Amino acid sequence: MKIFALPGNTALARGIARHLDAELGVFTVRCFPDGESYVRLLCEVEGQQAVIVCTLFQPDDKILPLYYLTKLLKESGAKSVTLVAPYLAYMRQDKVFNPGEAVTSDYFAALLSSFVDRLITIDPHLHRHGSMLEIYTIPCKVIHAAPLLSGWIRQHIANPIIIGPDSESEQWVSDVAVAADAPFLVLEKVRHGDRDVEVSTPVVAAHKGHTPVLVDDIISTAHTMIETVGHLRAVGMAAPVCIGVHPIFAGNAYDDLVGAGAAEVISCNTIQHPSNRIDVAGMLATAISE
Ligand code: R5P
Repeated sequence: MKIFALPGNTALARGIARHLDAELGVFTVRCFPDGESYVRLLCEVEGQQAVIVCTLFQPDDKILPLYYLTKLLKESGAKSVTLVAPYLAYMRQDKVFNPGEAVTSDYFAALLSSFVDRLITIDPHLHRHGSMLEIYTIPCKVIHAAPLLSGWIRQHIANPIIIGPDSESEQWVSDVAVAADAPFLVLEKVRHGDRDVEVSTPVVAAHKGHTPVLVDDIISTAHTMIETVGHLRAVGMAAPVCIGVHPIFAGNAYDDLVGAGAAEVISCNTIQHPSNRIDVAGMLATAISE
C-alpha cells in the first residue's frame, strides 16, 4: 500500500502512514503558469493499493488534480485507488430549495464515483440523504468523530453540558454527550441566508453551573456558533468551548468566533487549521485497513 498526500494533507497522511506502517507515495503536482495542473508519478505502484488523502474543502480547486492523480495511478498499475476525504464537500445542497437549483450533492457523488474505487470519510453532512449509498455508487466507509470528541471533553472540561445548534446535530451531539457522561441540549435553527442564521435561546436554568460545549459537524462562516455563543452569554452561562469536526472557517470566521466570546475553539484535523486538537489519523488508518 502507498499513501499519497495531495497538497495540504501531508501531516495527516504521514500520521495515517505511521499507524499503518505504510510508505508515502512520491509524486509531483503543480500548476503551469496558465493555471492548468501538472501531475507526475515518481514511485512504483504496480499491483499495489493506492490511498489518496485529499480533504475536500474548497473542492473546486482540488477535484481536477485528484482526478488526474487517480487516473495516473490506475494507468501505472495500481490495483485500486481509495480516496480518504476526511471532509467531504457538496453534501449540503441535497435538495432543490428554490426552483432551478442544481442538487450538487448528487452530481458531485456521481463524479467521484466515476473514477475512485472506494471512499472513506468522516461525519459527512447526511441530512436529507439517509446514507451515502443513496448518492454514491462506490463502497463508502463513514466514520464518526464522536468518540474522539467525547474523549477530549472528558479529559479537558469539568462539568460540561453539550449543546447542538440545530436538530441535524442531535445525531452526533447525543452520542458525544452519552460517551462524555454529560447532559445535552439541542436548539432550533432557521437559516435565512449563507451568513444569516437564527438559533433559539437555550433553556439552561437547570445547568447554570455547567461549562457549555457547543458541538457542530461543520464550522463554515461560524455564524451558527456565533449566534449560539451570544445566547449563552446573554442568559448568564460561562463562556462556551466550541468544537467543530470540520474547521472550514471561511474568511475571518475563526477570529469572529473568538471575538464573539468563545472560551476556546477547537477542531479535528479533518482540515488543517491552528484550532486542530483532535487527531483523526488513527481512526482513518483503521478504516483503511478494514
Ligand atoms: C448545518 O447544516 C451544519 O450542520 C452546520 O451547522 C453549518 O454548516 C454551519 O455553518 P456556518 O458556520 O456557516 O453557520
